[in-house]
Amino acid sequence: MAKQLTDHVTWVGKVDWELKHFHGQELSTFRGSSYNAYLVQDQKTALIDTVWQPYDVEFVRHLKEVINLSKIDYIVMNHNEIDHSGSLVELMREIPNTPIYCTKKGEAIIRGHYHQDWNFVNVRTGDTLTLGDTTLTFIEAPMLHWPDTMFSYLSGDNILFSNDGFGQHFASESLYDDCVELDEVMYEAEKYYANILNTYSPMAAKKLQEILAMNLPLQLIAPSHGIIWRKHIADIIDRYTRWSNNYQQHQVTIVYDTMWNSTRTMAEGIAEGLRQADNTLTVKLMNASKDDKNDILTEVFRSKAVLVGSPTINNGYSYAIAGILEMMRGLKFKQKKAAAFGSYGWGGEAVKLINEHLQTAGFALLNEGLRLQWVPTEEGINQCRDYGRNLASLI
Ligand code: FEO
Repeated sequence: MAKQLTDHVTWVGKVDWELKHFHGQELSTFRGSSYNAYLVQDQKTALIDTVWQPYDVEFVRHLKEVINLSKIDYIVMNHNEIDHSGSLVELMREIPNTPIYCTKKGEAIIRGHYHQDWNFVNVRTGDTLTLGDTTLTFIEAPMLHWPDTMFSYLSGDNILFSNDGFGQHFASESLYDDCVELDEVMYEAEKYYANILNTYSPMAAKKLQEILAMNLPLQLIAPSHGIIWRKHIADIIDRYTRWSNNYQQHQVTIVYDTMWNSTRTMAEGIAEGLRQADNTLTVKLMNASKDDKNDILTEVFRSKAVLVGSPTINNGYSYAIAGILEMMRGLKFKQKKAAAFGSYGWGGEAVKLINEHLQTAGFALLNEGLRLQWVPTEEGINQCRDYGRNLASLI
């Protein structure tokens, strides 16, 4: 169901209440999501983005309830991952000659996805499209988070259409940030940043500065997922500024896996030591086999240091820890410290291998790690507490 945002702009997207995972299983989306598309109706009409392919027929049907499709003069594609471009085939079947405004990379991606020779118009930063009283200005934002990404700014109504930037996987019947639980939506925005955008933080920081320097009046920031920022624009910009600049809180996250509870016992002993040494430190324990991987990575994102623990199994570390370590490598966290620990029966290779992976992932090792054989005794638990206290002094 379409919703009017301003005199000129109507939301014509799709709320996906059922979505629980995104990018295959890569990203959990427990609060659902939305694919936001926007129709700007002035003397000329522009459609900004579409929705994910499973909803293409529904999208076009609803769009027809708002406008005769032949009246759409331009389609603007800010980013062409399939969750935004997936309805193009269905739409272009009806209006095949409508020009599609996108970056040069955007054209290549659309061609690569849909193998269609549509009427593409390549745009660059500073190019404009006058619609009447309102004008769209395009701002390329490569690698936020795909090479084709751009933002579109609608002067007149003063809306920044930021696509994935400032987005959150959050399903809501309410359109705006001031109509939902702010803590929930901020958590989803942070989880989105940590898991999707953090890899490209240097580009995000630079782009943010560039946009702020433009001094654009902003009535709305309208992303392609989740709620639209209306009341908390300054807050989300401030958070993005901090998130994109090697963000960390006074926090340590302990991520572990355990087979017979020995490594868990170590994790809890280390946590106790950390807190004894510094009661201002937030210490979070997460079991990589039981907690959600993207929630774990969001906690890693917030942390000054991460401690990774695994029992030794088959001369290596556990399946769940391997997954988390690989995701930590890909997300390119900066200026974070790390250490490893784990129990073992014989061999005990896990700690050394985790250390190697942490270093490859760009974490600064705090020490060589802690290994305990078999089930920790009271003396072993005390060793863990000492280890935690010592780590607190290094963090
Ligand atoms: Fe929401 Fe990168 O697509």
